[in-house]
Amino acid sequence: SRSLNLAVVPGDGIGQEVVAQGLKVLNAVLPQDVKLQTKEYDLGAQRWHRTGETLPDAELDSLKQHDAILLGAIGDPSVPSGVLERGLLLKLRFAFDHFINLRPSKLFPNTATPLAGRPEIDFVVVREGTEGPYTGNGGSIRTGTEHEVATEVSLNTAYGVERVVRDAYERADARPRKKLTLVHKNNVLVYAGHMWKNIFDRVGQEYPEVTTDYLHVDAATIFFVTQPERFDVIVTDNLFGDILTDLAAAVTGGIGLAASGNINPTGAFPSMFEPVHGSAPDIAGQGKADPTATVLSVALLLRHLGFEAEAVRIEEAVSADLAERDGGTTRTTDEIGDALAVRVAG
Ligand code: IPM
Ligand code: MN
Repeated sequence: SRSLNLAVVPGDGIGQEVVAQGLKVLNAVLPQDVKLQTKEYDLGAQRWHRTGETLPDAELDSLKQHDAILLGAIGDPSVPSGVLERGLLLKLRFAFDHFINLRPSKLFPNTATPLAGRPEIDFVVVREGTEGPYTGNGGSIRTGTEHEVATEVSLNTAYGVERVVRDAYERADARPRKKLTLVHKNNVLVYAGHMWKNIFDRVGQEYPEVTTDYLHVDAATIFFVTQPERFDVIVTDNLFGDILTDLAAAVTGGIGLAASGNINPTGAFPSMFEPVHGSAPDIAGQGKADPTATVLSVALLLRHLGFEAEAVRIEEAVSADLAERDGGTTRTTDEIGDALAVRVAG
């Protein structure tokens, strides 16, 4: 019989609440013969306050043993900015070599969007996950003085760029429209930008059926708002991808619906699935958070582990739930989770 051994990291703020709903829907959708095991990890702001630890090696080793990781949200105003982001979230992404940060955007029915009534929006951003300006390659001298100098170097390797570009071509080739857009800024970032473009063009020769396009990141932000239907698969670096995917969420129904996967396609380490949104401490503990992004992240997790039919059931349940969502009434986190669990089970 099949089994699924999941690590659960609820984290901070609304992370606890939304992850509970994600697990509820997961339990409802899994066939009887699949043995689901979960282990919860106490990581995040509270742990840091208690012990000063962000992600001890013992826990990192233990996390490695799971098939996948479901993560809620990391970050709290009581912890200095960057401590948990670098020491926990990015540490996981780097340690498990999550070089694909997959962030799909779909215009679901009946969602609050400045683009209502537009043609279908259905694209996926393949954001590089282990390089760029996220590597901590920088420093500051004369810190705090008026002569301070700070650098934050963007690291790009041919190996790292080629593997994410190749993955994006594979994804584009498997989709009906077969279109891949590279987003960068090679009119200014001439070293990394030209390397990305050269690798993009070279790898593209192996995918003759994929139509390609290149956009500078500033122009891409315009098209995200004025013409999002032109996109199918987008490949871009870590920081551009971070910014573009918040914008993508905003134009396709809000950050409450945006799911993501931090994927290591080689299977050498477990991949990690999390909503794009943060810990939202202002609404934590009030049952106000929309768990849909986490539920959709569970769908990405299932797809990654080969449970395609179950992933589709979740996506269809979300679609149906949104179509019937009544703008006049607000449901609690728990109520939305219940409604989705009922739909995937039925
Ligand atoms: C995200 C977040 C993270 C990122 C932060 C919290 C480190 O914004 O997942 O998009 O920049 O990648
Ligand atoms: Mn972000």
